[in-house]
Amino acid sequence: MTKDKITGTLVFTVFTAALGSFQFGYDIGVINAPQQIIISHYRHVLGVPLDDRKAINNYAINNTDELPTTPYPMSPTPTPQVGEEIMASAGLITMLWSLSVSSFAIGGMIASFFGGFFGDTFGRIKAMLLANILSLVGALLMGFSKLGPSHILIIAGRAISGLYCGLISGLVPMYIGEIAPTTLRGALGTIHQLAIVTGIVLSQIAGLDFILGSGDLWHFLLGLSAVPAILQSLLLFFCPESPRYLYIKLDEEVKAKKSLQRLRGYDDVTKDIIEMRKEMEEASSEQKVSIIQLFTNSNYRQPILVSLMLHMAQQFSGINGIFYYSTSIFQTAGINQPVYATIGVGVVNTVFTAVSVFLVEKAGRRSLFLIGMSGMFVCAIFMSVGLVLLNKFTWMSYVSMIAIFLFVSFFEIGPGPIPWFMVAEFFNQGPRPAALAIAAFTNWTCNFIIALCFQYIADFCGPYVFFLFAGVVLAFTLFAFFKVPETKGKSFEEIAAEFRKKSGSARRPKAAVEMEFLGATETA
Ligand code: GLC
Repeated sequence: MTKDKITGTLVFTVFTAALGSFQFGYDIGVINAPQQIIISHYRHVLGVPLDDRKAINNYAINNTDELPTTPYPMSPTPTPQVGEEIMASAGLITMLWSLSVSSFAIGGMIASFFGGFFGDTFGRIKAMLLANILSLVGALLMGFSKLGPSHILIIAGRAISGLYCGLISGLVPMYIGEIAPTTLRGALGTIHQLAIVTGIVLSQIAGLDFILGSGDLWHFLLGLSAVPAILQSLLLFFCPESPRYLYIKLDEEVKAKKSLQRLRGYDDVTKDIIEMRKEMEEASSEQKVSIIQLFTNSNYRQPILVSLMLHMAQQFSGINGIFYYSTSIFQTAGINQPVYATIGVGVVNTVFTAVSVFLVEKAGRRSLFLIGMSGMFVCAIFMSVGLVLLNKFTWMSYVSMIAIFLFVSFFEIGPGPIPWFMVAEFFNQGPRPAALAIAAFTNWTCNFIIALCFQYIADFCGPYVFFLFAGVVLAFTLFAFFKVPETKGKSFEEIAAEFRKKSGSARRPKAAVEMEFLGATETA
């Protein structure tokens, strides 16, 4: 029997697909470093005083009022107690900035529903090609944003790039999973997350003021995602279509064989064909399950609730608060070169994603998730302690910085990658597409909520902001402890039994359990 090997075509194809995940990461991280520069530009375009503090001073001098206490500097614009006009313009700028960050996630939220549908309608390759049109339009709007009303162009551009990323977050893992040989599926599957974190760190490096993060070049920084989009579009023409799509969806055995021969590097691809035939039979014997049925059918209710909670835990941990806003968080924490600390976060994030690739197949998913969440809880406490005590001890800035690095490391050990692939393990062929769609939608929705509200929460809570996230992380950790089953090395039947045990209906009559496995639906 021929052994699975990594061929040139496979590497080339996975690389090409992962350029999509790379853009996803780039768009997450790119907004972070140039925050203050872009905000100044917004002020300039909208005629809001360039330096609010100057405006406050002038106002206070003219009104012989006392100057307001120094506002919490994490906010892009101080919110003075004096001068309604100044307050209104500060509020407007905060709102526009929060929208610039979060419109990306709105796009992602909408499109995450359609990744699978797109892939099935056009084929994986054409779907990725078409998606790149969105990426290019988004990049162009942002790249030329200086020439027009920049706030509108950036908000619109990020929303359109978000549409691309929402599609890609379904399409790329699907395509890679379909072209990978069985024994390499796990390892190649993690390339998606690895490419995301690489995108994040490169966007942070490109955002350095002497590269593209300057007052003159920031619009190129935002538009740069056009480069991987063009590259991906060109390379996709040389990639083989997914053999699974050709065989299972289109019933094109000859084309599927040809594609497999290119990917595997040998002619006898019978093993793969047999595997796909089995999958096709399984798929046709199982009924497709709708999203509503996931919640109404008692077999699926527990696993889908756990799936959604895992994704909520991932996003409400506040991780993207760090990726969108770390430069201003580090500034608040008294770090001299906040942009370099942000790059540090990106590097640590990448290293630990690579570590988790090895850990995940050794340790269980449940244990890694719990370890990661518990670690994040402790780090969030230290992050806030560092901020609260900063006025008393200047070295507290290092406590905050190290706590942020560790927070990100713990995230990548468990809560980062695990929800993305664990949901697929909870469900078999019939309910899986619906479960993955609603899980991705939940993830993007929570991402949007954090992107939009983080700035407001930070302004409201001041240095105590991460205590709030610590509380949220603790609540999700407890939930996971009681409700999330271990899936590593288990069959769907065993996982279903675990779920019943956890929902308290362990002692069901054996016959009823067998009936369920045979596919009888039991509607609650
Ligand atoms: C995960 C999250 C994403 C986050 C990234 C950070 O992929 O889903 O929102 O930005 O990890 O590494």
